[in-house]
Amino acid sequence: MCGIIAYIGPHPALPRIIEGLKRMEYRGYDSAGVALASEGRLWVRKEVGRVSELTRRLGGGPEVGIGLGHTRWATHGGLTQVNAHPHVDASQQIAVVHNGIIENNNILRSQLEADGVAFRSETDTEILPHLIRKHYRGDPVQAVRDAVQHVQGTYGIAVLFAEHPDVLVAVRNGSPLVVGLGRGETVLASDPQAVVAHTRQVVYLQDRELAVITTDGADVQTLAGQVVDSEVEVLDGDYQLASKEGFPHFMLKEIHEQPRSVRRALRGRLQVDDGNAKLGGLNMTPRDLLSVQRVINLGCGTSYHAGMVAAMAVESLARVPARAEIASEFRYRHPIIQREAVFFAFSQSGETADTLGAVSEIQIKGGEVMGVVNVVGSTIARTCGQGVYVHSGPEIAVASTKAFTSQIAAQLVFTLMLARCRNLSLEQGQAVAAALDGIPGKISQYLQEPGPIDAAVELIASARYVLFLGRGFSYPVALEGALKLKEIAYIPCEGYPAGEMKHGPIAMLDDGAPVVFIAPRDSQTEKAISNMMEVKARGARLICVHTQGDDEVAGLADVSLPVPRSTDFASPLLTALPLQLIAYHTGLALQRDVDKPRNLAKSVTVE
Ligand code: AGP
Ligand code: GLU
Repeated sequence: MCGIIAYIGPHPALPRIIEGLKRMEYRGYDSAGVALASEGRLWVRKEVGRVSELTRRLGGGPEVGIGLGHTRWATHGGLTQVNAHPHVDASQQIAVVHNGIIENNNILRSQLEADGVAFRSETDTEILPHLIRKHYRGDPVQAVRDAVQHVQGTYGIAVLFAEHPDVLVAVRNGSPLVVGLGRGETVLASDPQAVVAHTRQVVYLQDRELAVITTDGADVQTLAGQVVDSEVEVLDGDYQLASKEGFPHFMLKEIHEQPRSVRRALRGRLQVDDGNAKLGGLNMTPRDLLSVQRVINLGCGTSYHAGMVAAMAVESLARVPARAEIASEFRYRHPIIQREAVFFAFSQSGETADTLGAVSEIQIKGGEVMGVVNVVGSTIARTCGQGVYVHSGPEIAVASTKAFTSQIAAQLVFTLMLARCRNLSLEQGQAVAAALDGIPGKISQYLQEPGPIDAAVELIASARYVLFLGRGFSYPVALEGALKLKEIAYIPCEGYPAGEMKHGPIAMLDDGAPVVFIAPRDSQTEKAISNMMEVKARGARLICVHTQGDDEVAGLADVSLPVPRSTDFASPLLTALPLQLIAYHTGLALQRDVDKPRNLAKSVTVE
C-alpha cells in the first residue's frame, strides 16, 4: 500500500509533496517522510504517525523544486522513525520511497552486508538505496535499471539522487504509479488523487517499466532500455477532496449516503417495465448471457462478502452455478478456468493487489474477467477492460460501508439480466426489478429510524467475544458485521452460518455473551428461530436484526433492530445497515479512530 509522491518543477517541492501525501494518506498512515535534493545533499525528514505529525515537526525545508515523499503501511519492520521512508544509502546521496514487498530481501540484505553495508532499518526497502549505490557509476538511470534486475517481488519505487537534481527515476512492478505531465513540472504518484492538483494529463506506468522524470515530462522505457510509446490519458473523474458534510466522521457520512449511493448503482440500469436491466459496461448480449455456465466472484474483505451475496443471488434467481472466492487464495491454487465461466473482480479501490493478481491469473489462462469496481480508472478497472462501475462515490473511511451495498446492488442488476434471459418470465422479472427499485427508499426509511443501536452497543462494547450469526443470504451479512466490528472496535468476534454454530462456536457462549443474529423473514426464519433458542439456552444475549413487524423474532430478542421488509436476495442491502451502525458507535464508545483504524489502510496494494 502506501502513497508515493515525487515532484520536479519550478515551484518549491516541499508543500506540493505534503499536499500529495495528505491526499493519499488513506493508502497508509503508519508514518510519513520526505526527501529533497539541495546543493548536492539530501534533506530528509520522517516521523511516525500521520502526515499532520510530519508537518507539525517539519520546520521550513530548502526551497528546491525536486523531492519525494511517502506515507507508509508497514510490512517489514515496526512503526518507527528509522523504518519510515525515504530510505537512503550509506553516503546519504540516494533516497528511495517504495510501495510493495521485496521478496528476496533476506538474500540481498546478506549479500550487501557481506559487502560491508550497515543497515539502519528493519525494512525490506532499505536494500534498494544500497543496491542502487552499488551499481552507480555516475548514471542514475542505469544504476536503478541494474539494481532492480536483482530484485524480486512487487514494487513501485521513486529514486532521488542528490548529485542529479534534474531527474527522478521511477520503476513499477506490481504497485501502481502514475506520472502527471504538467506545464514545466512533472509529478509522480501512486494515485491520480495526488496528481490532479497539478495536471489531468497522465501516463500510467505498466509493470517492468522505468520512467526518467524531468521538468519536461517522462521518458518511459522497458527495463531493458527500449523506449515505450505510452498513451497519454486525460483524467476525467471527480477528484475533489471529499468533505464530511457536517457528519463527525466519514464513516457515518458514508453510511447515511446509502440511499443515494445504492440509487446510483441502479439508476439507468433497471428496466422495470421489461422486467429486465442493462449494464453498459458489460459487452454481453442476451446470447452471451445465455452461454454463461458459471459465475465466480473474487474479492477480499468486504468485497468478498459482497461477492458471496451476489453469487447466492445468481444461483437462486438465475439457477446458474455461482460461488465467491477469496482472491488471495484463488490466485495461488492453479485455478481451473473454463471457457463458459464468467469471473467478476469485486473491489472498491480497484487497486487491491490480491484481487489484481487473481485477475491476471484468469487472463493468462484465457478467462473472461470483469470488474465490479468503485474507483473509476483504477488498475483493476483498466486491467479488466470491461465491467460494472458501482458509482458509490469516493469512500474515504477505511471501513467499507456504502461500497458494499453498491456492489451488491450492481450485481443484483447483472443477476436480473442473467435470470431474465433464462428462467424469469416478464412478470417475475418485473417483480425483481421493482423490488430492487424500492430498496433506496427502504434504506432511507431505516436510517431515519435505526432502532435501539445504543442498547446493542452497550452489550457489545464490554464483551470479550461477539458472535454474528445468519443463514442463507444473511450469512455473508454476519461475516460483514463481524469484520466491521473487528476493524473499528478491535473486539474479538466472528461471523458464522447459524446452523454451523452447534458444531463449535457455541462453546464460546456463556452468560451474557452478545450474539448478533441476522434473521429477516425468509424461507429459513423457522430454522433461525431454533438457533436463537439454542443461543438463549446458554444464557447469551440476543441482538436481532429482523423484518419490521416480525413479532415472533422480536419477542426472542434482548435488543430488537427491525428493518423494512424486502425479498430475500435484497435483504442484505437492509440488514447490513444496523451492523454498520453498531460497529461505528461501538468504535466511538471505545474511543477508536473510526475513520482510520489501527494497522489498516484503505487501499491494500501489497500481497
Ligand atoms: C473493508 O472494511 C476493509 N477495509 C477491507 O476488508 C476491504 O474490503 C478489502 O481490503 C478489499 O478492498 P477493495 O474493495 O478496495 O478491493
Ligand atoms: N515493505 C515496505 C515497508 O514495510 C513498504 C511498505 C509500503 O508499501 O508502505 O516499509
